[in-house]
Amino acid sequence: MKLALRSALFLAVIAACGGASGGASQPSVPALVPSSSATVAPSASASAAVAPVELKPLLATNMRGDLEALGLDMAHLPPLSKLEPRVLRKLMPLFTKSLGVNCKGCHADDIRAPTPRKKIAEKMWNEFVVKLRTADEAPLFCDSCHQGRVHQLDRSDHEVLSRWMDVTFNKGLSRRDGKENTCATCHGEPRDEHFLARWTGEADH
Ligand code: HEC
Ligand code: HEC
Ligand code: HEC
Repeated sequence: MKLALRSALFLAVIAACGGASGGASQPSVPALVPSSSATVAPSASASAAVAPVELKPLLATNMRGDLEALGLDMAHLPPLSKLEPRVLRKLMPLFTKSLGVNCKGCHADDIRAPTPRKKIAEKMWNEFVVKLRTADEAPLFCDSCHQGRVHQLDRSDHEVLSRWMDVTFNKGLSRRDGKENTCATCHGEPRDEHFLARWTGEADH
């Protein structure tokens, strides 16, 4: 387990240097990186080097019907690790559709092996989908923010992105615990602008 994770992180570094974007493009060091593993490497920290994507407004989820059909109560979602295996497996096609990736976008050949993308996906469920909703109290799911793309942030202009964050992720969202939603909800205090890198190392709690 430990070794697999370490080599996955190593691949992440290689992919970051090669500027792999969402698993769609080949890294520039194909001799070192088998393409099946390269797709599981997160490139969040290197996205400045990746072709910019369009910043879009947030949506209420379009998948509420699918989620409720699995017996999920959107107002009281459990952490991912507490879902029945049957429900967890049926969520997978909704993950792939929301992010515009296939199963290999997150999983290594061994489905159970940890990967950085699986860890981030679990935290996105536990921290965003479970704990947040839109400002007008509609439920969120992966599609709300991702809208068919793994990468959704145009990081080329820090000021533009900060303003978009304020409108979209700060004012556009509310917390289910009733506390005020601020930048610190996600970025912590003091503000960590690259917290996804940390998420790859601590999925369970
Ligand atoms: C509140 C908005 C929001 C929600 C809801 C959300 N995400 Fe994300 N997610 C983001 C942002 C922002 C990023 C960083 C994207 C970027 O770098 O362009 C991200 C990045 C990721 C990444 C890392 C991609 C990479 O390799 O850099 C994964 C995997 C991911 N999300 C999975 C999910 C899954 C699965 C769900 C649903 C359980 C989900 N997300 C829900 C906002 C969201
Ligand atoms: C956005 C990332 C993501 C994508 C895409 C994704 N998965 Fe998953 N998958 C996860 C996470 C996170 C878990 C739960 C954590 C774990 O099992 O370690 C999981 C768990 C599973 C499990 C349960 C494994 C177990 O230990 O019981 C199966 C089976 C699975 N996925 C299959 C698939 C299939 C098939 C696809 C394509 C249709 C897919 N996944 C796409 C992230 C993803
Ligand atoms: C709902 C969660 C959420 C909230 C609230 C939020 N952000 Fe973010 N923000 C993210 C995610 C996810 C990323 C990608 C982090 C990463 O790559 O590690 C991000 C990235 C950023 C970045 C890009 C950093 C870079 O250089 O790539 C900036 C700037 C930023 N946020 C500013 C803000 C500001 C300012 C606020 C408050 C007005 C805010 N954010 C509120 C989720 C959020």
